[in-house]
Amino acid sequence: MASLTSEIMIEAQDITKRFGEMVAVQQVSLTVNRGEIIGLVGPDGAGKTTTLRLICGALKLDGGRIGVGGYDIERQTENARAQLGYLPQRFSLYEELTVMENIRFFAETRGVPQKEWLPRCLNILEFVGLADFRERLAGKLSGGMKQKLGLAAALVHSPKVLLLDEPTTGVDPVTRQDFWQLIIRLAAQERTAILVSTPYMDEASRCHRVSFMRQGMILIEGSPASLRASLAGSILEVKGEPLPVLRQLVIREEGVLNAQRFGDRLHLRVKGETAEQISARLQERARQAGIRISAVRPIEAQLEDVFIALLEGEGHG
Ligand SMILES: Nc1ncnc2c1ncn2[C@@H]1O[C@H](COP(=O)(O)OP(=O)(O)OP(=O)(O)O)[C@@H](O)[C@H]1O
Ligand SMILES: [Mg+2]
Repeated sequence: MASLTSEIMIEAQDITKRFGEMVAVQQVSLTVNRGEIIGLVGPDGAGKTTTLRLICGALKLDGGRIGVGGYDIERQTENARAQLGYLPQRFSLYEELTVMENIRFFAETRGVPQKEWLPRCLNILEFVGLADFRERLAGKLSGGMKQKLGLAAALVHSPKVLLLDEPTTGVDPVTRQDFWQLIIRLAAQERTAILVSTPYMDEASRCHRVSFMRQGMILIEGSPASLRASLAGSILEVKGEPLPVLRQLVIREEGVLNAQRFGDRLHLRVKGETAEQISARLQERARQAGIRISAVRPIEAQLEDVFIALLEGEGHG
């Protein structure tokens, strides 16, 4: 386990959790260092929430060990919990209380001393951008504001470790940006260790490292850049129309493993020949079929391409 002075703030080793016959988390290992933002990405039911709940000690482990700030979550539960703030996927606030009253409640349950709670709460509300709304009933906040209040509640005792479970799901794009600015500031300025689950690839790209989970297991882990590099040279961007017909055409072409729509263009994952060869062949094929391809070019893989490749059980070979 990490010592108190270590950079390692979360250390999960081979953690396993079963619900009856179902293995929700299977031998998952991960570490989060001080100042790092680590993303947990994966489809519904992958085991993200279960992993976070194990780390915060809300669920009992069936196997493996977890250290939080150097404390063992099972044997030194109180010390470990004191290190961490947790924003659950379905976090509940008191709708009939004001923003300030909510924060105060969380401060008290977290044992923030009487003398400190007022400046601390004001500070946190300022930080998340809710200072002007402190007298508003929590039930009257927008979805994004509620999430910010949830973040404020998780931060009220100045935790060194922060667990965020899909904090921006269902939140508008502008607030999502705000929220990420806060996460990035916490990691950079307070050196908080942050583990965040997200269904959004653009958010995953902002993490220092990403773990991709499926069916209770981590399938791949690494920095967004290194994950993307694993597909180097194998993604072609194709523009043309009509896109659906074009997709049907290219997907039948040899060497094309996958064709995914990204807005008004296609990303093809190709193998075998060079991008130029495949591109020439596609152009020719489209001409014969009377479909217009306006541009084909090799592009850098996006994280989404990496995960699609992974889900199909190919690539990375
Ligand atoms: N308390 C529980 N009792 C029984 N099964 C559970 C329980 N909690 C989770 N599961 C099951 O464990 C698996 C993993 O669930 P989990 O909530 O961790 O997934 P997730 O990755 O967070 O999914 P989502 O993206 O939908 O939030 C699922 O099959 C789920 O049905
Ligand atoms: Mg979940």
